[in-house]
Amino acid sequence: MAISNIVIGLFLITFVVTTFSSNFYQDFDITWGDGRAKILNNGELVTLSMDKASGSGFCSKNEYLFGKFDMQLKLVPGNSAGTITTYYLSSVGDTHDEIDFEFLGNLSGDPYIVHTNVYTQGKGNREQQFYLWFDPTKDFHTYSLLWNPQSIIFYVDETPIREFKNLESKGVHFPKNQAMRVISTLWDGENWATRGGLVKTDWSQAPFTASFSNYYAQACVWSSSSGSSCSSNSSENQPWLTQIIDAEGEARIQWVQKNYMIYNYCTDIKRIQQGLPPECLQY
Ligand SMILES: *[C@@H]1O[C@H](CO)[C@@H](O)[C@H](O)[C@H]1NC(C)=O
Ligand SMILES: *[C@@H]1O[C@H](CO)[C@@H](O)[C@H](O)[C@H]1NC(C)=O
Repeated sequence: MAISNIVIGLFLITFVVTTFSSNFYQDFDITWGDGRAKILNNGELVTLSMDKASGSGFCSKNEYLFGKFDMQLKLVPGNSAGTITTYYLSSVGDTHDEIDFEFLGNLSGDPYIVHTNVYTQGKGNREQQFYLWFDPTKDFHTYSLLWNPQSIIFYVDETPIREFKNLESKGVHFPKNQAMRVISTLWDGENWATRGGLVKTDWSQAPFTASFSNYYAQACVWSSSSGSSCSSNSSENQPWLTQIIDAEGEARIQWVQKNYMIYNYCTDIKRIQQGLPPECLQY
């Protein structure tokens, strides 16, 4: 009896897709902010707030090696100039990997910027920035990061806005060996966030608050003792593990990039003069 339970337990750990729907108490630790980050509604909601003394943040208990991570965010309303709300994946150390969503606040009525970046082996400089096609402070919207060995895809309400392909064959590092945690923070970025730092944070509006709900991870949990919870045979149950952008997805990315992209490192004149990164060339 005991043995078969252990066997079943191991079987589950090794082969079953690990999916989590949100209970923030279960999935996250508050890591920063001295009471400014709050888990509410029995674990269904987190609010992060920031005032002049500090921002705040939380971090997943698990480390993951690949996954699709959905989070609903409602961003700081009103005058959010200078504030940066983040939702990202990151490993640790000098040669860390990181996959970022950063939401740059603005004066009331002026558009937020969604800033995206991909770090590999400690090196970023791969920014793409977008406006949104809705007001991200009015309602919750879903922001997703898909990360598998072939591709990294950023989604807004299931619309792909960016893909970073695995181009190791062209000499571009791709994050696939370092486990990452899911992290969210709210912090003061007045030196660059709003109109490049021209508009500062108005502290008379503090505290600033962003809300998070419905975290959903379909992911391979990593542990140093037992490795990844995904086996190479289980990809049938885990379409996200092999998913890449298809023709339809490519058309949607083109639509977003044509209508909403406001900065792309691949078309930055200064960068081009230094030589374009290989992933920016068309293959
Ligand atoms: C804020 O609004 C200004 C004016 O519309 C715009 O140029 C800028 O891109 C907006 N977003 C940020 C984060 O600066
Ligand atoms: C995958 O399945 C094949 C054939 O059933 C088996 O030989 C192999 O060991 C499996 N690999 C893993 C990682 O489970």
